[in-house]
Amino acid sequence: MLLLAIETSCDETSVALLRDGCVLANAVSSQVKLHEEYGGVVPELASREHLRNLMPVAGQALGQAGVASGELDAVAATRGPGLPGALLVGLRAAQGMAFALDKPFIGIHHHEAHLYSPWIDGDPLSLTLDTFQPNVSLIVSGGHTMLVHVAAPLGHRVLGGTVDDAAGECFDKAAKLIGLPYPGGPELDRLASEGDGTAHNFPRPMLRDDSHDFSFSGLKTSVRYFIRDNPNVLEDGQRLRDLCAGVQAAIVEVLVAKTIRAAKKLGERCVTASGGVTCNSGLRAALGVACEREGFVLRLANPTLCTDNAAMVGMVAHLRLANGGETTSPDAEIVPGWKLADI
Ligand code: KG4
Ligand code: ZN
Repeated sequence: MLLLAIETSCDETSVALLRDGCVLANAVSSQVKLHEEYGGVVPELASREHLRNLMPVAGQALGQAGVASGELDAVAATRGPGLPGALLVGLRAAQGMAFALDKPFIGIHHHEAHLYSPWIDGDPLSLTLDTFQPNVSLIVSGGHTMLVHVAAPLGHRVLGGTVDDAAGECFDKAAKLIGLPYPGGPELDRLASEGDGTAHNFPRPMLRDDSHDFSFSGLKTSVRYFIRDNPNVLEDGQRLRDLCAGVQAAIVEVLVAKTIRAAKKLGERCVTASGGVTCNSGLRAALGVACEREGFVLRLANPTLCTDNAAMVGMVAHLRLANGGETTSPDAEIVPGWKLADI
């Protein structure tokens, strides 16, 4: 079974090829440079860039995999959630390809793709569900922060999510206030690694709250006030690094504590994490320490699969087809506000 998958839900144009669940190619073209001068993703520019990039990226993936489009057995694409114009480019291209080849089309939920990315491993990358354990999964990206209970492959229940900003959004907005280039998360991470996270005690929103929900907008506001009241911090290299470490420590402590608490509540002994913020070195280390302390198994998505990519989209399509799941209508529409709880 040769499957081509497309991901265009936000600002990464990605095309992957999978044979029987093994990743042959996973080409990703990031639009970070394009959106940098605006300090955030500009939806209309993103759609146009996807239009420009999709066919070259598809050509690159096909070339890398050493296959021709005529050999495909199925085509998948992210159907939602995401930016409407951006989703439309990938979805319509995939549907057109499937229609022209008379092969099935599968529309995939972007968060379901993140959800199984921690189980993609090895060389070549493939789905390692033979080691699957029921788990609590943390999905943390620029757009979303949620906790999900995955009792069985393709069997999940959303436990909670952010009531305002996502963790990645908080990283990016705090980084912008500090004066770091967009997207600030990776740069804040780098500076934090040389700072003292205990030098500033930022709030840990909803840490003691018994729900599985998160809130990060208050933390961002307290960073704003801190900088207003201590403008010199930005001029002093070490104090700036301490500030970055303090922000990161607050975000990471909330994410880790709530994930571990959810796993304990549900009696699960496995934790997984995915999404762009799972690249964060502080989060990876703190989840490692906490899971070791609790005797939990920890599966972190490979850093190359944390940010948006088509390999994870193709993997869920493969999983669905392998389990006799239904394909999607070739004229199905995008679902920009699709909730993970609805599938
Ligand atoms: O999953 P993703 O590529 O896109 C969305 O679906 O949102 O995640 C992008 C987010 C951005 O907010 C970016 O700043 C954040 O992930 N990110 C990081 C790091 N690497 C990426 N945040 C903190 N530390 C990092 N190392
Ligand atoms: Zn994502």
